[in-house]
Amino acid sequence: MTDRLLQSRESLLKRIRRTPMSTTPGDAMLLRILIQTARARRGIEVGVFAGYGAIHMGIAFERTGGRLYSLEIDPKRAAAAQSNIRKADLEKTVTVLCGDALELIPRLRGQFDFLFLDAVKRDYLRYLRAAEPKLKPAALVVADNVIVHASEMRDFLRYLRSSPDYETVLVRASMEKGDGMTISLKLR
Ligand SMILES: C[S@@+](CC[C@H](N)C(=O)[O-])C[C@H]1O[C@@H](n2cnc3c(N)ncnc32)[C@H](O)[C@@H]1O
Repeated sequence: MTDRLLQSRESLLKRIRRTPMSTTPGDAMLLRILIQTARARRGIEVGVFAGYGAIHMGIAFERTGGRLYSLEIDPKRAAAAQSNIRKADLEKTVTVLCGDALELIPRLRGQFDFLFLDAVKRDYLRYLRAAEPKLKPAALVVADNVIVHASEMRDFLRYLRSSPDYETVLVRASMEKGDGMTISLKLR
Protein backbone atom coordinates (compact mmCIF):
# COMPACT_ATOMS: atom_id res chain seq x y z
CA MET A 1 0.00 0.00 0.00
CA THR A 2 1.44 3.39 -0.95
CA ASP A 3 1.62 6.25 1.57
CA ARG A 4 -0.78 8.14 -0.67
CA LEU A 5 -3.40 5.37 -0.62
CA LEU A 6 -3.09 5.06 3.16
CA GLN A 7 -3.51 8.85 3.51
CA SER A 8 -6.59 8.85 1.30
CA ARG A 9 -8.09 6.00 3.36
CA GLU A 10 -7.33 7.81 6.64
CA SER A 11 -8.98 10.95 5.30
CA LEU A 12 -12.04 8.91 4.17
CA LEU A 13 -12.25 7.42 7.68
CA LYS A 14 -12.35 10.97 9.10
CA ARG A 15 -15.19 11.89 6.71
CA ILE A 16 -17.43 8.86 7.36
CA ARG A 17 -20.42 9.93 9.39
CA ARG A 18 -19.95 8.29 12.76
CA THR A 19 -22.79 7.89 15.26
CA PRO A 20 -22.97 6.20 18.68
CA MET A 21 -23.51 2.97 16.65
CA SER A 22 -20.05 3.23 15.05
CA THR A 23 -16.97 1.55 16.41
CA THR A 24 -14.76 4.18 18.04
CA PRO A 25 -11.45 5.14 16.36
CA GLY A 26 -9.49 3.61 19.25
CA ASP A 27 -11.36 0.30 19.10
CA ALA A 28 -11.14 0.18 15.29
CA MET A 29 -7.39 0.77 15.44
CA LEU A 30 -7.05 -2.02 18.00
CA LEU A 31 -8.89 -4.39 15.63
CA ARG A 32 -6.55 -3.34 12.81
CA ILE A 33 -3.44 -3.94 14.93
CA LEU A 34 -4.75 -7.31 16.19
CA ILE A 35 -5.45 -8.57 12.67
CA GLN A 36 -2.05 -7.54 11.39
CA THR A 37 -0.04 -8.82 14.36
CA ALA A 38 -1.96 -12.14 14.38
CA ARG A 39 -1.46 -12.32 10.60
CA ALA A 40 -5.14 -13.21 10.34
CA ARG A 41 -6.26 -14.26 6.86
CA ARG A 42 -10.04 -14.80 7.03
CA GLY A 43 -12.32 -12.69 9.14
CA ILE A 44 -16.01 -12.20 9.84
CA GLU A 45 -17.54 -8.95 11.10
CA VAL A 46 -21.06 -9.27 12.54
CA GLY A 47 -22.78 -5.86 12.21
CA VAL A 48 -21.24 -3.36 9.78
CA PHE A 49 -23.28 -0.14 9.96
CA ALA A 50 -21.48 2.41 7.69
CA GLY A 51 -18.29 0.37 7.38
CA TYR A 52 -16.02 2.38 9.67
CA GLY A 53 -14.62 -0.70 11.43
CA ALA A 54 -14.69 -2.71 8.19
CA ILE A 55 -12.35 -0.20 6.50
CA HIS A 56 -9.91 -0.29 9.41
CA MET A 57 -9.98 -4.09 9.43
CA GLY A 58 -9.83 -4.17 5.62
CA ILE A 59 -6.57 -2.19 5.69
CA ALA A 60 -5.08 -4.87 7.96
CA PHE A 61 -6.49 -7.79 5.95
CA GLU A 62 -5.13 -6.27 2.74
CA ARG A 63 -1.68 -6.22 4.39
CA THR A 64 -1.95 -9.89 5.43
CA GLY A 65 -3.28 -10.91 2.02
CA GLY A 66 -6.51 -11.89 3.75
CA ARG A 67 -10.21 -11.29 3.37
CA LEU A 68 -13.04 -9.95 5.55
CA TYR A 69 -16.72 -10.88 5.29
CA SER A 70 -18.82 -8.09 6.82
CA LEU A 71 -22.42 -9.07 7.60
CA GLU A 72 -25.20 -6.46 7.86
CA ILE A 73 -28.93 -7.08 8.19
CA ASP A 74 -30.13 -3.62 7.11
CA PRO A 75 -30.02 -3.21 3.30
CA LYS A 76 -29.52 0.59 3.45
CA ARG A 77 -26.63 0.25 5.87
CA ALA A 78 -25.14 -2.58 3.81
CA ALA A 79 -25.29 -0.35 0.71
CA ALA A 80 -23.71 2.59 2.55
CA ALA A 81 -20.94 0.35 3.88
CA GLN A 82 -20.38 -1.10 0.40
CA SER A 83 -20.08 2.40 -1.03
CA ASN A 84 -17.57 3.47 1.65
CA ILE A 85 -15.54 0.29 1.10
CA ARG A 86 -15.48 1.00 -2.64
CA LYS A 87 -14.31 4.58 -1.94
CA ALA A 88 -11.53 3.10 0.21
CA ASP A 89 -10.56 0.86 -2.71
CA LEU A 90 -10.96 -2.17 -0.46
CA GLU A 91 -13.65 -4.09 -2.34
CA LYS A 92 -11.20 -6.85 -3.27
CA THR A 93 -10.53 -7.42 0.45
CA VAL A 94 -13.86 -6.67 2.15
CA THR A 95 -17.10 -8.34 1.04
CA VAL A 96 -20.33 -6.95 2.50
CA LEU A 97 -23.08 -9.55 2.72
CA CYS A 98 -26.61 -8.33 3.44
CA GLY A 99 -28.76 -10.53 5.67
CA ASP A 100 -29.19 -11.92 9.16
CA ALA A 101 -25.78 -13.01 10.45
CA LEU A 102 -27.42 -16.01 12.13
CA GLU A 103 -28.42 -17.24 8.67
CA LEU A 104 -25.31 -16.04 6.80
CA ILE A 105 -22.60 -17.42 9.11
CA PRO A 106 -23.53 -21.11 8.58
CA ARG A 107 -23.43 -20.49 4.81
CA LEU A 108 -19.90 -19.03 4.77
CA ARG A 109 -17.42 -21.47 3.27
CA GLY A 110 -14.08 -22.43 4.80
CA GLN A 111 -12.33 -21.72 8.07
CA PHE A 112 -11.79 -18.39 9.81
CA ASP A 113 -9.18 -16.98 12.17
CA PHE A 114 -10.84 -13.71 13.19
CA LEU A 115 -14.37 -12.90 14.40
CA PHE A 116 -15.64 -9.47 15.42
CA LEU A 117 -19.04 -9.33 17.14
CA ASP A 118 -20.83 -5.98 17.04
CA ALA A 119 -24.53 -6.53 16.24
CA VAL A 120 -27.41 -7.35 18.64
CA LYS A 121 -25.84 -7.64 22.09
CA ARG A 122 -28.19 -10.33 23.46
CA ASP A 123 -27.33 -12.51 20.43
CA TYR A 124 -23.53 -12.55 20.85
CA LEU A 125 -23.52 -16.13 22.15
CA ARG A 126 -25.68 -17.22 19.19
CA TYR A 127 -23.30 -15.56 16.69
CA LEU A 128 -20.32 -17.20 18.37
CA ARG A 129 -21.97 -20.64 18.45
CA ALA A 130 -22.86 -20.29 14.76
CA ALA A 131 -19.25 -19.39 13.89
CA GLU A 132 -17.48 -21.85 16.22
CA PRO A 133 -17.39 -24.84 13.83
CA LYS A 134 -15.54 -22.59 11.37
CA LEU A 135 -13.06 -21.05 13.83
CA LYS A 136 -9.51 -22.39 13.61
CA PRO A 137 -7.40 -23.05 16.70
CA ALA A 138 -5.68 -19.75 17.63
CA ALA A 139 -8.53 -17.74 16.10
CA LEU A 140 -9.26 -14.40 17.78
CA VAL A 141 -12.81 -13.52 18.82
CA VAL A 142 -13.35 -9.84 19.61
CA ALA A 143 -16.64 -8.58 21.06
CA ASP A 144 -17.56 -4.90 21.39
CA ASN A 145 -19.59 -3.13 24.09
CA VAL A 146 -18.96 -5.70 26.79
CA ILE A 147 -19.02 -3.17 29.64
CA VAL A 148 -22.04 -0.96 28.88
CA HIS A 149 -24.10 -3.89 27.53
CA ALA A 150 -22.79 -6.59 29.88
CA SER A 151 -26.25 -7.36 31.25
CA GLU A 152 -27.60 -8.13 27.77
CA MET A 153 -24.78 -10.57 27.03
CA ARG A 154 -24.45 -12.32 30.40
CA ASP A 155 -24.68 -15.76 28.76
CA PHE A 156 -21.91 -14.88 26.27
CA LEU A 157 -19.55 -13.52 28.95
CA ARG A 158 -20.25 -16.50 31.21
CA TYR A 159 -19.54 -18.86 28.32
CA LEU A 160 -16.19 -17.21 27.55
CA ARG A 161 -15.23 -17.23 31.24
CA SER A 162 -16.17 -20.86 31.84
CA SER A 163 -15.14 -22.52 28.57
CA PRO A 164 -11.74 -24.24 28.61
CA ASP A 165 -11.52 -23.42 24.89
CA TYR A 166 -10.93 -19.68 25.33
CA GLU A 167 -8.52 -17.33 27.07
CA THR A 168 -10.10 -13.90 27.40
CA VAL A 169 -9.08 -10.40 28.38
CA LEU A 170 -11.25 -7.28 28.59
CA VAL A 171 -9.65 -4.13 27.18
CA ARG A 172 -10.63 -0.51 26.92
CA ALA A 173 -8.90 1.00 23.89
CA SER A 174 -11.07 4.11 23.87
CA MET A 175 -12.76 6.26 26.48
CA GLU A 176 -15.18 7.70 23.91
CA LYS A 177 -18.16 5.57 24.94
CA GLY A 178 -16.91 4.37 28.32
CA ASP A 179 -17.12 0.85 26.92
CA GLY A 180 -14.71 -1.98 26.17
CA MET A 181 -14.07 -5.12 24.18
CA THR A 182 -13.21 -8.71 25.07
CA ILE A 183 -10.42 -10.32 23.11
CA SER A 184 -10.53 -14.10 23.26
CA LEU A 185 -8.01 -16.56 21.94
CA LYS A 186 -9.61 -19.84 20.86
CA LEU A 187 -7.22 -22.47 22.11
CA ARG A 188 -8.44 -25.49 20.11
C1 LIG B 1 -23.05 -1.24 16.42
S1 LIG B 1 -23.49 -1.32 14.74
C2 LIG B 1 -22.01 -1.91 13.96
C3 LIG B 1 -20.91 -0.90 13.92
C4 LIG B 1 -19.77 -1.30 13.00
N1 LIG B 1 -19.14 -2.55 13.39
C5 LIG B 1 -18.73 -0.21 12.89
O1 LIG B 1 -17.54 -0.55 12.81
O2 LIG B 1 -19.07 0.97 12.86
C6 LIG B 1 -24.51 -2.76 14.71
C7 LIG B 1 -25.01 -3.16 13.32
O3 LIG B 1 -25.48 -4.51 13.40
C8 LIG B 1 -26.54 -4.64 12.49
N2 LIG B 1 -27.29 -5.87 12.83
C9 LIG B 1 -28.23 -6.03 13.79
N3 LIG B 1 -28.67 -7.31 13.82
C10 LIG B 1 -27.96 -7.99 12.87
C11 LIG B 1 -27.96 -9.33 12.41
N4 LIG B 1 -28.76 -10.26 12.96
N5 LIG B 1 -27.13 -9.65 11.39
C12 LIG B 1 -26.32 -8.73 10.83
N6 LIG B 1 -26.28 -7.43 11.22
C13 LIG B 1 -27.09 -7.06 12.22
C14 LIG B 1 -27.31 -3.34 12.67
O4 LIG B 1 -28.16 -3.07 11.57
C15 LIG B 1 -26.19 -2.32 12.83
O5 LIG B 1 -25.85 -1.70 11.59
